[in-house]
Amino acid sequence: MFRVKVPATTANLGPGFDSLGLAFKLYSYFTFKKSDKPLIITGCEEKYQNENNLVYYSFKKTFEYMNLPLMNVEINIESSVPVCRGLGSSATCIVGGVLGASILSGKNLPMEEIFKICNSIEGHPDNIAPALFGGLTVSLVENDIPYTVKYNISKDLNFYVFIPEFELSTEKARNVLPKEISFKDGIYNISRTGVLLKALELGDEKLIKISLSDKLHQQYRLPLIDESSEIIKICNSNNVLGTVISGAGPTLLGITKNSNLINEIFSQVKLLNNNWKIKKLDVDFSGTIIEYL
Ligand code: HSE
Repeated sequence: MFRVKVPATTANLGPGFDSLGLAFKLYSYFTFKKSDKPLIITGCEEKYQNENNLVYYSFKKTFEYMNLPLMNVEINIESSVPVCRGLGSSATCIVGGVLGASILSGKNLPMEEIFKICNSIEGHPDNIAPALFGGLTVSLVENDIPYTVKYNISKDLNFYVFIPEFELSTEKARNVLPKEISFKDGIYNISRTGVLLKALELGDEKLIKISLSDKLHQQYRLPLIDESSEIIKICNSNNVLGTVISGAGPTLLGITKNSNLINEIFSQVKLLNNNWKIKKLDVDFSGTIIEYL
């Protein structure tokens, strides 16, 4: 029996659409063991305890990839990562299922192949890369093969997530995006992404503030997130350097050097309607870890 521990992630970080990602110390745990029955899933909500479960789907896809007959399996899921909130819960399930199959089958695929299978299931690598490798990652896909590099991130930065009680599906948040963008907007995001990476490494407040802005996705998505403008206003009035949509939303991510922000902001946020939860999350530098039990 073994357990796959996978961190939550935030994707995009403003301008880095579908490429930048950051892992947080908030985890999903997936325990795998051989079973007499074709499938047993425990731990998660009952509506996920069936063969449509994304962990099991990813497990099955990996057996297909390895060209091996599917094994009977018992999977226990314990997750602190909220579902459909833009904190990489799908990526944790995919990574869990793919690694579960790789290890339970005894095949122990190399990490490049694990990354490739996960990316083909998720469709983009920005959450998968930090979930697997930890830290701040920038990824690209060339001929269906994902590549990723890690960047340093200043220890002086603090990350606050604002999680509303409603869900927003990635599909819905991708459907509102334009099919084409202007050359000018492309330059706007490329230049900011490059500067942002160095600014995050240095903890440079002025440059982080400027380079977190984006023209490719957030303006289309913010209307889908009720009270997002109120959260951004509250953050701005408390000198948060920038507040961006975490992944496809609806969670918002605030970056600041102030480590005592929660009390000041909480009293204002609690007056809103969507029961927003605020969490200060530390960066996870380890990525996915396999624990043998
Ligand atoms: N980069 C993705 C998006 C992350 O913003 O749609 C969500 O999977």
